[in-house]
Amino acid sequence: KEIKYFDTIDSTNTYSKTIALEVPHGTIVMSDEQVGGRGRLGRNWSSPKGEGIWMSLILKPGIPPNEGMKVSHIAAAAVCKGIREITGLEALVKWPNDIVINGKKVCGILTEVAGELNEIHYLIVGIGINVNNIDFPTELEEKASSLLIEGKKKYDRKELIVKIISIFEKFYDSFIKEGSLEEVLRLCRQYSALIGREVVIIKGGSQEAAKVLGMTDEGFLEVELSDGRIEHIFSGEVSVR
Ligand code: BTN
Repeated sequence: KEIKYFDTIDSTNTYSKTIALEVPHGTIVMSDEQVGGRGRLGRNWSSPKGEGIWMSLILKPGIPPNEGMKVSHIAAAAVCKGIREITGLEALVKWPNDIVINGKKVCGILTEVAGELNEIHYLIVGIGINVNNIDFPTELEEKASSLLIEGKKKYDRKELIVKIISIFEKFYDSFIKEGSLEEVLRLCRQYSALIGREVVIIKGGSQEAAKVLGMTDEGFLEVELSDGRIEHIFSGEVSVR
């Protein structure tokens, strides 16, 4: 297994895209700090030195680009299970693939495709976990947290990394070999932060109230809108009311 380790880097995802063709399947890129960490929806991802797990997994064989979402669910299930096993904290999956503890985000996942259209699509799964962060910029304080803040103790990043990667590999292998997402879906449902909750769905500029009924086998969120219509949501943002 190849692990590329940096003290500092712009973004492990950006770097992974540039080396994806040359490195073996399963290569892991991690850095103690990112100065240009990227999040979903074009956002920044704060990645201070020594406090978190900032890593990217390079996956070859990849899968058809429209299946990328499933790999994000695999990563979310692995991180959620890993955090629970190592820390005992009640980590939940907030669809599509954030991990929250006590309603605050401790982990985000950014899955990207490396390679041109019509070529082989390698996948880059970027995982950012706030482990030993003591504080957050004021604009994040209400929404973000760390394992240290929630568990009131420091955690060993290496132990978490080893656990999460071994769970991820098991799930990814059974998905590639047998097409099975059974265990992943079970975990995402069992530890869902949204199923059964009243939420607001944010789409483009508009917001809509809904109740979350479940998650489909494709990984879509099944919601009931206020007029009673049932809808399957495949992207975007959902917040708890
Ligand atoms: C999100 O918006 O929730 C996704 C955040 C993903 C952050 C991780 S940290 C490692 C990898 N490199 C990046 O630049 N982003 C991802």
